[in-house]
Formats: sequence, C-alpha cells, structure tokens
Amino acid sequence: MTRWFATGRMIAAGTLLPALLLFAGCGDMGDAPTGPGTNADDQNTLTWVDHIRPNIVQPNCSACHGGALARNGLDLGEFDEWIDAESSYGNPYVVPGEPDSSEIVWRLEGTGGLLQMPQGGELPPDQIDRVRAWIEQGAVKE
Ligand code: HEC
Repeated sequence: MTRWFATGRMIAAGTLLPALLLFAGCGDMGDAPTGPGTNADDQNTLTWVDHIRPNIVQPNCSACHGGALARNGLDLGEFDEWIDAESSYGNPYVVPGEPDSSEIVWRLEGTGGLLQMPQGGELPPDQIDRVRAWIEQGAVKE
C-alpha cells in the first residue's frame, strides 16, 4: 500500500487529492508487476501497453472485443477505442483520472444498469482495482 503513495507525483496536480483518497480505500495494491516490460521510469505506473492490454484485455475481453469479432463495434485491443471514444450508450469508455465516469469501470463492476463484463463472468476484484488505478493515474498508453 505504501508504495502506491509514491506514485502521487505521477498524477496530475488537479486529481492528486481525490486520487489519494481513492487509493486509501483500495485493497492490497502492492503486487504491481515489476518484471520485464515494466515502465522503466517508474515501475508503479500502470500503462495500457504493459499492464492493461496483456493482463486484462487479452485474456478476458479480446475473444469478443477483438478484430472481426468486435461486439457493438468495440475492439478493446486498440488503445484509441478506450480514450476519447463514446460507447453506443453515449458514455465515454474511459475518462482519464475519473474511473467513476468511465463506462469500462461500470461494466467491470456491474453498475450503471449495463450488462456486466466480461459477459458471463466477472473479473477478480484486484483486477478491477488495477483498471481503476490505471484510469486514476491518467490512463496512459505507455
Ligand atoms: C463472451 C463475450 C464477451 C466478453 C468476453 C466481453 N464482452 Fe463486452 N460485450 C459483449 C456483448 C455481447 C456486448 C453487447 C451487449 C451490451 O451492450 O451490453 C458487449 C458490450 C460491451 C461494452 C459496450 C460497448 C458499446 O459501445 O456498446 C463494453 C464497454 C464492454 N463490452 C466491455 C468489455 C470488457 C472491458 C471486457 C473484458 C473485461 C468484455 N467486454 C468482455 C460480449 C463480451
């Protein structure tokens, strides 16, 4: 947990306070990946390329949201589909710094009256927290 407070400097000044409050409410976040391919500048910074795509999207979403099989036209293997894009329900998928405004988070948590994703299942809470933390940190690509 303490290691995560060190990432505060990575967060845009305006979102620092809410971010810290949110982090304080999180579960155990101490298992951030530190192996090869981890961002060399700050190994606690979550990135889409190093953490979100390989660990969350590819194993859990790509079967239905990749390439020709993109459900509702959503190809989650493309970063641009996450940022500055609206779902067919009119919500932004990801609002950097604001996980609670991001439909991806509602989908993972089963809130907002929308079908929970991945369809037919549910991610473990630590993985959902990982997505939340990534968005909180600014939803950077790499
Ligand atoms: C078994 C197939 C399947 C898997 C796996 C799956 N989805 Fe979906 N997803 C769907 C279907 C079908 C829809 C359309 C139904 C709906 O809009 O609720 C959908 C819709 C969505 C939408 C709304 C797209 C839009 O613009 O309307 C989002 C966001 C989404 N999924 C996210 C995810 C995420 C994130 C994962 C992985 C954690 C995931 N899905 C895994 C089948 C799947």
